[in-house]
Amino acid sequence: MPTVNEIGLYAAMSTLRAVRRLRPDPVPDPVLRRVLEAASWAPTGGNVQPWRVVAVRDEARKQRLGELYAERWASYSAQHRKLIADAPESVRERTERMLAAGNYLAEHFGETPVVLVFCFDPRNMAITDAKQGRISVVGGASIYTAVQNALLACRAEGLGCVLTTLLCECEPEVRELLGIPEPWGTAAAVPIGYPLLRGHGPISRRPVEKLAFLDTWGRAWR
Ligand SMILES: Cc1cc2nc3c(=O)[nH]c(=O)nc-3n(C[C@H](O)[C@H](O)[C@H](O)COP(=O)(O)O)c2cc1C
Repeated sequence: MPTVNEIGLYAAMSTLRAVRRLRPDPVPDPVLRRVLEAASWAPTGGNVQPWRVVAVRDEARKQRLGELYAERWASYSAQHRKLIADAPESVRERTERMLAAGNYLAEHFGETPVVLVFCFDPRNMAITDAKQGRISVVGGASIYTAVQNALLACRAEGLGCVLTTLLCECEPEVRELLGIPEPWGTAAAVPIGYPLLRGHGPISRRPVEKLAFLDTWGRAWR
């Protein structure tokens, strides 16, 4: 298992995948501290750092988060399965693998050694696209940079992890459970722990030629 500093940044980024099967073994304090410190290095709009993270280790609170997560996962996965009913065989197979891993996570969410609940201050998100007449996404950029840093640090530490957002559907319950004050919101819950199986590894993404253009939209990057 690679440990911190033994993996290059590009190798870490290109093998950072959703790891949903985690062992309950504890994450040592120094390791968790490095993950949280990596999150703290993230850029935010105006360097306001309008985010905080609650590292949940308390068994009863994790248990409750697990129950809430499992309820949301049940309806999400049922919906998702319906959506892919007519998809090609290969897509259905890939999705079923993801759903099986997701079922495992939902059943064991509460046994995860640490759940990182990322919170944001809606008053300070530097939302420069607020008046565009569409959903705003810029605010999220002042917190998900921290989440991604934490995920990459987990990768470097040999910890499995997955960014989840289903608990945001029941933010009031999560807020009360963790004592998160108004008007702070929740952006993600990241269960972390040592992988039960192979952990991080190859990922499947669109090629850069499909994602990036040169000078104008649609112009091939060659
Ligand atoms: C915004 C966002 C929300 C996500 N929410 C969940 C979630 O609630 N539960 C879950 O199991 N995975 C969740 N994921 C993980 C994605 O399903 C996963 O990153 C994607 O399928 C790619 O998987 P891979 O990295 O293993 O290739 C989320 C990812 C993102 C970026």
